[in-house]
Amino acid sequence: MADRDSSFRVDALAAEDIDAYLEAHQHKSLLRFITCGSVDDGKSTLIGRLLYDSKMIFEDQLAALESDSRRHGTQGEDIDFALLVDGLAAEREQGITIDVAYRFFTTEKRKFIVADTPGHEQYTRNMVTGASTADLAVILVDARKGVLQQTRRHSWLVHLLGIRHVVLAVNKMDLVGYDQPTFEHIVADYRSFAQSIGIDQFTAIPISGFKGDNITAAPSANTPWYDGPALIEHLETVALDNAAAQAAPFRMPVQWVNRPNLDFRGFAGLIASGTVRVGDAVRIVPSGKTSTVKAITTFDGELDVAVAGQSVTISLADEVDCSRGDVIAAAGDPPQASDQFRATFVWMDEEPLKPGRGYWLKIGTQTVTATVQPPEYEIDVNSREHLAAKTLGLNSIGVAEFATDRAIPFEPYAENRQLGGFILIDKCTNATVAAGMIAFSLRRADNVHWQPTAITREDHAALKNQAPRVLWFTGLSGSGKSTIANEVEKRLALMNRHTFLLDGDNVRHGLNRDLGFTEADRIENIRRVGEVAKLMADAGLIVLTAFISPFRAERRMVREMLPEGEFIEIFVDTPLEVAEARDVKGLYRKAREGKLKNFTGIDSPYEAPENPEIRVNTVDMTPEEAARYIIERILPLK
Ligand code: ADX
Repeated sequence: MADRDSSFRVDALAAEDIDAYLEAHQHKSLLRFITCGSVDDGKSTLIGRLLYDSKMIFEDQLAALESDSRRHGTQGEDIDFALLVDGLAAEREQGITIDVAYRFFTTEKRKFIVADTPGHEQYTRNMVTGASTADLAVILVDARKGVLQQTRRHSWLVHLLGIRHVVLAVNKMDLVGYDQPTFEHIVADYRSFAQSIGIDQFTAIPISGFKGDNITAAPSANTPWYDGPALIEHLETVALDNAAAQAAPFRMPVQWVNRPNLDFRGFAGLIASGTVRVGDAVRIVPSGKTSTVKAITTFDGELDVAVAGQSVTISLADEVDCSRGDVIAAAGDPPQASDQFRATFVWMDEEPLKPGRGYWLKIGTQTVTATVQPPEYEIDVNSREHLAAKTLGLNSIGVAEFATDRAIPFEPYAENRQLGGFILIDKCTNATVAAGMIAFSLRRADNVHWQPTAITREDHAALKNQAPRVLWFTGLSGSGKSTIANEVEKRLALMNRHTFLLDGDNVRHGLNRDLGFTEADRIENIRRVGEVAKLMADAGLIVLTAFISPFRAERRMVREMLPEGEFIEIFVDTPLEVAEARDVKGLYRKAREGKLKNFTGIDSPYEAPENPEIRVNTVDMTPEEAARYIIERILPLK
């Protein structure tokens, strides 16, 4: 027992501070890998075996384990090992909600971070998260079952996510009597599949996670016919991609600007690729401005040269504009910048994608607003067939065009994971809803430029002697939006104000006659109306809009398109019962009879404003009273 205890030595450093641990093992290279397999392929057992055999287990599970074995009075390797595996399995069950567990271990030659992701088919999200930083993937198959649909699915995802090293670990060899033909049959089967998806190389190893065959030393006495490396041996020696990253052109996304005094301005960040030297010519993307590197600073002092993977502060010879999110790059070979691109993405939220809605897009060190077009297609992960799709649901993968609200520097994901990978965040819930990989920029974005005009929006407003506004009326059908907006416009006209009223039913006869009442169509309806309202406000007008505009996200989008204070949300707060009892157009009756689908309030949602600038209660106020109430609150309008 004493021996066992010492083999379970906890590295106190690691338990407390991963960075300190990494620092202490600085001389060793680091391999990040991911294990993939179906639920019963023995993933927990394998990870347990790797941790156990490398005699270094970190994290508090160890303490629990030790006290457990003491409590049970158990002894001997197998029992400790079994306890460890049970612990891991239990954690992974919880992992369904806690996403990915990262485990750290080290051997004489290398240190490792393994992303342990739950294997259930529906948890693509976890796998994507774990794989996005991995150098290598261990794909586990059960020797009794061979290559399954899950194996193909995971392999394809691994390839899609840009992992270049693949290990096919044929596990549970003990259960097939260490039979060589069984192993070779599985390897041949996998090879033909792997080639079809573009995985040209992989290393196949026959193992038993449970018995420990070919994990630390190969060949196991049970597989004399195998002369390749043991799993750990392979993980220790596989060539890392650092050399390739350092040889690539220099790119550093700026994390923050460091200006301790007027004489110094440094741009801090993590070098994503390439090498930079003092004196190098650099270009800032997207602005295109150039300068030369004056100094490279780190915590440990000044450097002459820095490479991919290092965090540095760069100061430049010239006072050029450069801020967070910009990329400092090799002057002669900069990345592209674009505001439209095509990407493959994995949807990871229960709520499906809403094409046209604005999401936060985080790429490199910056966050912008992005909208997604309806997918060009969804990819069947098992057959890799392209399927027609209007949106993407949880765990689906698709390809679509993206538009951002400004040009962003990027590279195709296949060339640079840091500058080509992004996530989407829901602006209302703050949940990460998708992970994506940029394929390429759309040419049309490169060829359309913003044309500055001589007469500005301020000129337009001054000529009309008024302050532009967008009075955005929202509420159920039949709530009284159009009636009240009309009253407000009449009063403004009497006051010599220049106005224009955009009304839902009218706009749907012209500009938006191609749109219906699905979620996607309503989002597009409001996007177009928002753009028109903005143009009219730019022209100096006071714009009134009367649309149900049922979604918070789109109302917020229009608000954000306009200068602060110009968007005034007016909630025409009529309860459904009241609007339905009025039923001016007879539409509620039709909807109740099932003759009209997707009717707001009946079988399509209405998200009431949480903090409207103005709320009017049409039960207690007449339209004239409501209009007067609104006017009082928006004056003076100059
Ligand atoms: S919005 O949801 O996209 O903002 P919008 O205000 O343009 O809707 O149009 C709503 C008007 O269309 C309603 O006042 C009603 O007259 C008509 N209409 C027809 N079908 C529907 C429907 N399914 N849901 C809501 N309104 C409908």
